[in-house]
Amino acid sequence: MSRKRIGVLTSGGDCPGLNAVLRGIFCSAEEQGWEVLGFRDGFEGMLPDGGDVIPLTRENTAGIMQTGGTILGTTNKGHFTSKAAGGDRMVIPDEVIARASKTCRDLDLSAIIAIGGDGSMSTSLQLYRAGFPMIGVPKTIDNDLEATAMTFGFDSAVACVTDALDRLHTTAASHKRLLVVQVMGRHAGWIALWGGIAGAADIILIPEIPFSLEKVAEEVQRRDAEGFKSTLLVVAEGARTQHGQQFRKQSASGEWRLGGVGEMIAHEVEHRTGKETRTCVLGHLQRGGDPTSLDRILGIRFGVKAVQLATEEKFGTMVSYQNQDVMEVPIAEAIHRLKRVAPDCQLVGTARAVGISFGD
Ligand code: F6P
Repeated sequence: MSRKRIGVLTSGGDCPGLNAVLRGIFCSAEEQGWEVLGFRDGFEGMLPDGGDVIPLTRENTAGIMQTGGTILGTTNKGHFTSKAAGGDRMVIPDEVIARASKTCRDLDLSAIIAIGGDGSMSTSLQLYRAGFPMIGVPKTIDNDLEATAMTFGFDSAVACVTDALDRLHTTAASHKRLLVVQVMGRHAGWIALWGGIAGAADIILIPEIPFSLEKVAEEVQRRDAEGFKSTLLVVAEGARTQHGQQFRKQSASGEWRLGGVGEMIAHEVEHRTGKETRTCVLGHLQRGGDPTSLDRILGIRFGVKAVQLATEEKFGTMVSYQNQDVMEVPIAEAIHRLKRVAPDCQLVGTARAVGISFGD
């Protein structure tokens, strides 16, 4: 009898820990006597005749747990996009579903594990409802999915921000400057909050707590008057002013993306205070590099749990980290629910208690 087969793919933005999930999937599937086929470039790998696949093996998964990115490649947009840039749901065209379905039948897949963010989980749900044996593994460095207490990649992103702040402190102090550091976080300020606290920022601006430029300028001046001549400000890319204004930039392809809030703050606060100011946008540095130990372990655990769900045929579910355990939740209950920073949560209170301003 031929061995059962699992298909696996990584979809959406890359993130440290994806390869750890792949390693976890391969090793535990092998234990069960299952084969694993990796689709290249996310769901797109399902479209060519016979699929664009590579078998996962002992050799090609050896040593990958420690590395960032994804050995399978990934796609942010493509034929399977089920969430528009503005967050609206999109329906995957029937002919795309039909081609993917033929591929999965031809490859004789008993389960398909999709590792991705909210948009990819939404795609997985549409495929599950169309009859595909889908299992989801949530991924985002932003850590903003309600259905899981933690996603891998977040800890690595926070470590990157912390390291950057440690480096920027010395320049800020030497030159008595305000340094504005823009970090990722479109809807939620988790990276800014955790990275800002760990890296000893003086001001943290997040989407959940609208800020006032006057308050930020006052805080910089107050610090100056007290003898603290340098200030480190961390701002999430999705932070908004008390007037509800968010900052976007148009790319060469005409697409509007979040960006520019750091520059705007630097310009406005320098203008109001006369303080010499510089901006640093960390951008994709936060998504690259090796995963931290925590993200490696979380990735491995998610991969192993996903295989368990596949063997139990619990299709339409997604792995989820809750109370130190990896469990499962229905994908349908997990998508489109963001986990945001509650302005009155304990961590914000802790930050305020050690003198961090939120510009409010
Ligand atoms: O979802 C993670 C994220 O890192 C966001 O914070 C950021 O805006 C986005 O991805 C950038 O994605 P890309 O530039 O790769 O499309």
